[in-house]
Amino acid sequence: MIEFILNNKRIKSSAKSGMSLLHFIREEQGLKGTKSGCKEGDCGACTVLVGSLNKDNSISYQSITSCLTPLANVHAKHIVTIEGLNRPKELNVAQKAIKDNFATQCGFCTPGFVNSLSGLALQHKKVSKEDAINAISGNICRCTGYKSIEKAAEEVSNKLQNKDSTNELEWLVAEHFVPDYFKEIPEKLKQITSRGSDVEGVLVGGGTDLYVRHADTLLDQDIQQATHIVGHTIRVHDGVCTIDAGTRVTDLLNHKGFKSYFVKLPEFIKLISSEQIRNMATLAGNFVNASPIGDLSIFFLALDSTLHIKKANGDSRYVPLKSFFRTYKKVDLAEDEFIADLSFELDNNNHFNFEKVSKRTHLDIATVNTAIRIQLTNNVVYDVAISIGGVAAIPTYLHKTTRFLKGKELSVVVLIAAQEVLQSEITPISDVRGTAAYKRLLARQLFYAHFISLFPNQFQLKDFIA
Ligand SMILES: Cc1cc2nc3c(=O)[nH]c(=O)nc-3n(C[C@H](O)[C@H](O)[C@H](O)COP(=O)(O)OP(=O)(O)OC[C@H]3O[C@@H](n4cnc5c(N)ncnc54)[C@H](O)[C@@H]3O)c2cc1C
Ligand code: FES
Ligand code: FES
Repeated sequence: MIEFILNNKRIKSSAKSGMSLLHFIREEQGLKGTKSGCKEGDCGACTVLVGSLNKDNSISYQSITSCLTPLANVHAKHIVTIEGLNRPKELNVAQKAIKDNFATQCGFCTPGFVNSLSGLALQHKKVSKEDAINAISGNICRCTGYKSIEKAAEEVSNKLQNKDSTNELEWLVAEHFVPDYFKEIPEKLKQITSRGSDVEGVLVGGGTDLYVRHADTLLDQDIQQATHIVGHTIRVHDGVCTIDAGTRVTDLLNHKGFKSYFVKLPEFIKLISSEQIRNMATLAGNFVNASPIGDLSIFFLALDSTLHIKKANGDSRYVPLKSFFRTYKKVDLAEDEFIADLSFELDNNNHFNFEKVSKRTHLDIATVNTAIRIQLTNNVVYDVAISIGGVAAIPTYLHKTTRFLKGKELSVVVLIAAQEVLQSEITPISDVRGTAAYKRLLARQLFYAHFISLFPNQFQLKDFIA
């Protein structure tokens, strides 16, 4: 039995836990305000808010795409659709901003935008104009053009500057961002007991890979929530960072300890999918999907991470991430195993960089992506790890290139020679994302980009122009 609060209504459903939330909302509950567009997580027309109860009785709300969300993942949560944001007679703040800025025409995308902007309002932090634009990064409009929508988003963020941080929810209700019933939700959620971890079925993390391909077949199946068996916390202890496999991309960004080691993390993370998908996508899902261009795979390969793999009977083993990927989409994981967590050493002497080129800057998968972790002593490479995606059948750890660089003094000549070694250990193919020659060129440029970005006083673009 799946139980949750849908807007202001308590739901107890015996529907299969693999049914998509979008299907449940529209077909089982008849709430047609949530639109069904691409059903692949791209358009944001199906965006809803999911609220999770915190220990201090507050609720954290995030936007998600309901087309890729299994019912199991919303057990004991508050789900908000556009109907749950409506006020009896007047528009709420996000709706009014959209109307006043002429940011709607056919209206198909509008519920999704209103939900994303209302999710922004419910964040427990001071939000900037940039946050407002990020909040709608996963919403597509085919009619208006984006300027009018950006103006509406800016208007919402301006109004939020006066938010009373001591009593956020009271303020949001009084200012007509959300309806009055939101205040009763914490008490209602407390009455729902958790689902238990003994449920059997297809293992699903955020669903952002599985549901793109299998939403229709999973409709009639039960699923096992990965986050129930593996957790989603990040721990830093004695220089080692351990991240539970169910940790979502957004959790990485919100964790102060993790973020402090990666100065440019917000920039890197912005290149991964959209706000909604980042709120759902887990680390393990990215590794097990084993896409040759998986951004998290590339990021954590360069950190020389180790996976902790378990079985239900308690047996466990450790596998370096660089040995996990076997051949195209095949990984070192038996059917009765799951990834529990991943760990790597955090060292303040590390310099880290991530680069990604895709056809579109945002909401697109990579053509080529790469990451580097490097430690220098007096300009000599003490330790280095480089990963690259999109140039072989698996996310690739550049063994030869890193071996070549270790112990060498960094110079333009050494980097040019290292780049030639890199070219010898990649095997790109031509496909829809680019020709093999183009990917080789990108691999070259992004390799140099690492050093230009990390050591701008030592290396400039002109050094590498033939
Ligand atoms: C619109 C859109 C944009 C995207 N953009 C990007 C992008 O920019 N970069 C990128 O890298 N990816 C992108 N993705 C892909 C996807 O979001 C990521 O691969 C994500 O990390 C998958 O995680 P998930 O939890 O949603 O996986 P799921 O779909 O839940 O699961 C994927 C696989 O992992 C398995 N699995 C899940 N958890 C475990 C576990 N603990 N142990 C063992 N197996 C497990 C599942 O059984 C399944 O086989 C995008 C997807 C969409 C829909
Ligand atoms: S229908 Fe397009 S993102 Fe869900
Ligand atoms: S108003 Fe038509 S798709 Fe946005």
